[in-house]
Amino acid sequence: MNIKQIEDKCFMHTYKRANLVIKKAKNQFIWDEKGKKYLDFFAGISVCNVGHCNNIVVKAIRSQINSFAHVSNLYYAPIQVELVANLVKRTFPWARVFLANSGAEANECAIKLARKWGYLNPSKFGNRYEIICFNNSFHGRTMATMAATGQTKFHEYLKPLQERFVFAEFNDINSVKKLIGNRTVAVMIEPIQGEGGIVPADRDFLKELRLLCDKNNLLLIFDEIQCGIGRTGKFYAFESYGIKPDIVTMAKSLANGLPLGAAVAGKKCADAFTYGDHGSTFGGNPVSCAAALAVSKIMNKTFLSNSTKIAKYIRKKLENLKSKYTIIREVRGIGLILGIDLSIAGKDIVNYCLEKGLIINCTHDTVLRLLPPLIINKKDVDCAIKILEEALKWQMKTLKK
Ligand SMILES: Cc1ncc(COP(=O)(O)O)c(C=O)c1O
Repeated sequence: MNIKQIEDKCFMHTYKRANLVIKKAKNQFIWDEKGKKYLDFFAGISVCNVGHCNNIVVKAIRSQINSFAHVSNLYYAPIQVELVANLVKRTFPWARVFLANSGAEANECAIKLARKWGYLNPSKFGNRYEIICFNNSFHGRTMATMAATGQTKFHEYLKPLQERFVFAEFNDINSVKKLIGNRTVAVMIEPIQGEGGIVPADRDFLKELRLLCDKNNLLLIFDEIQCGIGRTGKFYAFESYGIKPDIVTMAKSLANGLPLGAAVAGKKCADAFTYGDHGSTFGGNPVSCAAALAVSKIMNKTFLSNSTKIAKYIRKKLENLKSKYTIIREVRGIGLILGIDLSIAGKDIVNYCLEKGLIINCTHDTVLRLLPPLIINKKDVDCAIKILEEALKWQMKTLKK
């Protein structure tokens, strides 16, 4: 049996894999088992933001694994402490961090923290536990984060769902206002909806949301798992919007490919948890922390301003494609989290690009999603646009037939 047949036989059928067996990856490139080279404009779903096997990250991983890989969270691991101090400094003037293994777990932590804070800060009707989320959102696949996800396709066959998540319209402040009640404790939002088709929040909407949360003593939780860690040209997407949440969650590119998630809470709620309230055996694995610390150090001003420049370059090229191909309805996103909304399904274009050596993805059926590593250069962009244009031409031709 070949590797595809073994996968098909032995794995639960949860992932529909593309026709690509990967042998190695370096920076913005991937090679398959036959040695064919691909330009990666997906970065493992916004994970390898500083490039595959980045030398500095690999060195940090090697160094930590030679010391120890795991000691449990019952003892002090210096690398964890160094990372958390670094994250606190980056995030809020005063903050506390919980380290998890994944995005869903980081969000679980935020949800639990908000609920605990709601008990400690009740309304006159008693404790508060209801969380306002948004239609079209995505927060993960665990029971609570799935219930917080505003897309019914993720809820199928899994009911009854965890209670007390309610859904407002994204970018509609009145719909949020209508949902605020005596039991509301928090609002949870992706500043840029990722799985929902790369839909950025309006600047004014987020500003109003911040004010609304302050006025009603609610926590504002930003899920930056897909859009954070440099994607928008700032370390956090909230910096691009000029407002601060009370809790920010991240994962994916935090450790550039090793499993790590984090929930960072500011002054308002960081002290709500006490010893024993939350935990995870593997959360904050020292090797992952070493990788994350390296990522954080790499992601300095120069790095981010280079990625902003390249983002402008690619955006112009994509807008140009939009003016030429009528199947492109809209180009959306901020920085290097980009969506090309089509009037048709996008999967054939994704497959065509893969065949030609370009890795992109399609989300929400019709949105081509580009999440390249932040290290791409103009030559990479030109190459990707050439293949994409070829794919669009081919698609238009097949539609006419
Ligand atoms: C915005 C957002 N939140 C949460 C998650 C869940 O992260 P994970 O798959 O690491 O659990 C994702 C994953 O795609 C995401 O995009």
